[in-house]
Amino acid sequence: MSSNRVPAGSDDDPSVATPQQPSRRRFLQSAAAVAAVGAAPHVQAQTPSAAAPPQARAPEPPRPVTLNVNGRTYSLQLEPRVTLLDALREYAGLMGTKKGCDRGQCGACTVLVEGRRINSCLTLAVMHEGETITTVEGLANNGTLSPIQQAFIEHDAFQCGYCTPGQLCSATALLSEFDSGTASTVTADVRARPPQLSDEEIRERMSGNICRCGAYANIVAAVRSVHGGNPGNA
Ligand code: FES
Ligand code: FES
Repeated sequence: MSSNRVPAGSDDDPSVATPQQPSRRRFLQSAAAVAAVGAAPHVQAQTPSAAAPPQARAPEPPRPVTLNVNGRTYSLQLEPRVTLLDALREYAGLMGTKKGCDRGQCGACTVLVEGRRINSCLTLAVMHEGETITTVEGLANNGTLSPIQQAFIEHDAFQCGYCTPGQLCSATALLSEFDSGTASTVTADVRARPPQLSDEEIRERMSGNICRCGAYANIVAAVRSVHGGNPGNA
């Protein structure tokens, strides 16, 4: 049979407390109340309502920017915050370069600046005045496809094609990087220049370009064939 009686000697046993000696429970309750009152101003200072409202910055006005893309000069009016990707697509009308993630993760926006591949979504257009920019539209020469473009067709190295402009620009740069002796993270000996690109090297050097369709095997075959000097062979 249960009992509601307070166990003798416990904190709730009134006989334990005297006016001069409060029980331990009462002491802890009082201490907690004092601590809560003391903490209240700090808690209030952390609330959003007490924070100063953020100051909205007015956008910088457009300014003239001249870009040299695929051998042609584009005189554009751009806000300084416009990325090279948006400048190419939305202002210069060159829609071949694709926007996938817009945050440097997929490689769909890869273009060549002074021969080096970059993610155009991660750089501002105003930073590239006076530099030579090549997009997928500029890889062909007077209507003749470049060797890597031809190899992509020969090896069926795409499905939906959304990643392909970035893959082509990246592969173009990859070949010249290898020819100039640039090592990768899978190069066994960075002091010895390997004569051939292995498939492992190609995969590593193309790893910044994502293909949602999974055409990787054929992309590697296309790059390998151009590197080997015969775009038509697997
Ligand atoms: S759109 Fe630039 S990396 Fe994805
Ligand atoms: S071919 Fe479709 S994403 Fe690469």
